[in-house]
Amino acid sequence: MQVTISSEPNLQKIDHLFVLVAEKRRPDDESVEALVTRAGFTGRADESITLLTEEPRKTTLIGVGKGEDLSIRTLRAALYSVGKVAKKHRDRRIAVQIPYTLAGADAEETTRFAASVLAQADYKYDAYLTVKKDEKVLPIEATIVAPEGLGRKELRAVESDAAALAAAIRTVRDLGNAPSNLMTPTRLAERAAEVAKEVGVKATVYGRKEIERMKMGGLLAVNRGSNEEPRFIVLEYAPRRAKKHVALVGKGITFDSGGISIKPAEKMEEMKFDMCGAAAVIGIIEAAARLELPVKITGAIPSTDNLPSGSAYKPGDIITMMNGKTVEIVNTDAEGRMILADALHFASRTKPDHLIDFATLTGACVVALGNEATGLFTSDDELARKLIECGDRVGDRLWRLPLWDEYKELIRSEWADMKNSGGRWGGAISAAVFLKEFVDCPSWAHLDIAGTAYAERETPREVRGATAAGVRVTVDFLQSLSR
Ligand code: BES
Ligand code: MN
Ligand code: ZN
Repeated sequence: MQVTISSEPNLQKIDHLFVLVAEKRRPDDESVEALVTRAGFTGRADESITLLTEEPRKTTLIGVGKGEDLSIRTLRAALYSVGKVAKKHRDRRIAVQIPYTLAGADAEETTRFAASVLAQADYKYDAYLTVKKDEKVLPIEATIVAPEGLGRKELRAVESDAAALAAAIRTVRDLGNAPSNLMTPTRLAERAAEVAKEVGVKATVYGRKEIERMKMGGLLAVNRGSNEEPRFIVLEYAPRRAKKHVALVGKGITFDSGGISIKPAEKMEEMKFDMCGAAAVIGIIEAAARLELPVKITGAIPSTDNLPSGSAYKPGDIITMMNGKTVEIVNTDAEGRMILADALHFASRTKPDHLIDFATLTGACVVALGNEATGLFTSDDELARKLIECGDRVGDRLWRLPLWDEYKELIRSEWADMKNSGGRWGGAISAAVFLKEFVDCPSWAHLDIAGTAYAERETPREVRGATAAGVRVTVDFLQSLSR
């Protein structure tokens, strides 16, 4: 939905007002107080009630629980309910009153966050639902009631920042949710170039011949089983006043069947999400450009699908990578690291101050952290600290796992410089250790988003499907570089 912020929304023009209500601290508003009392509303986090009122006709109270301040998860859940209720009621214009601030944040920050979340609250990937097409619900226009003390100029800035981030997150979710028969490497590259053009970012797309010329052995090996051409996408955002240069790499496996080491049928359809790292990179750069952040950013995205065929790469094969190192394939399902290796080498050559990669890399990371945290791997303690702090602030959380050299033992090969899989134990770590062999940048971080990039089912905070994990934390990190 489209979100504006206004200190005095015209209630006559609004179909439905939503008010967040905490258990202990009631909103400081007489008419709301009267409704709360009349309805016997307690404010518990799972409580909500829609009441008939005068102006506007409907008011919905949404409970946000006990806390003195709002937590990010509570606010997200509350705003997601707003979206759901508004959709059900076919509301066209709604207003949302948030009389609290996030813990550790001021009213301005809370409003900025709320606006970007609310913009996504009615999101649904419905591009291919033909049944409900004719009764397609019209877009909802939402107004957040502005907190006191913010001037017009500040409000407009908050509004446009939130819209920039929300647009980028939408791009990421649409890319991630698209099925792999349509979101091929070729299409992904086209979309990347389209988005780049829209926000004034340079895009270069390399095809098979150029990828061969660059000797990207990992990307070519994985692509051998496919009928789709591989793509290597480079995005360059270079604002004039840039102080720092950050390179971003994203895993762009448009479908991961496992290849010859084929995956079981159950949930294999979820492997259309295996390009969510790539989508995150595109979205982060889109956001940075829209926000005009003074940071130079290079994005590098290797893309192919991973399929079995007569020409597919096989266990036992030895592959020479772009940086000259050799890899013995023991499992063709460990394909992400093969394509990322070349991209990390490519990105290292651009000599960035920081290098960050995003990948739905391992099931082992999901076993370790579930769906609440992205796995963070880095040897740079300062970078770890900053990224974790940014993630906590914006509710896109990271949890650090080790990257010790001892784990290198797991990927030792007798026939080549290393194997592409270290087996099950510590699988997320051995994958990260593998990637490290291809990085030449002292400040590198690897984000394993396998458990966070998509929601397998609806949660109290979001719909099923791509979540854009990694985007908020990285945009906040990029902003912190220029603060
Ligand atoms: N794309 C998968 C990882 C994945 C699993 C993402 C579940 C999201 C949910 C990756 O390419 C993969 O298959 N990894 C293997 C590595 C193993 C063969 C060493 C895995 O995790 O099983
Ligand atoms: Mn795989
Ligand atoms: Zn994969």
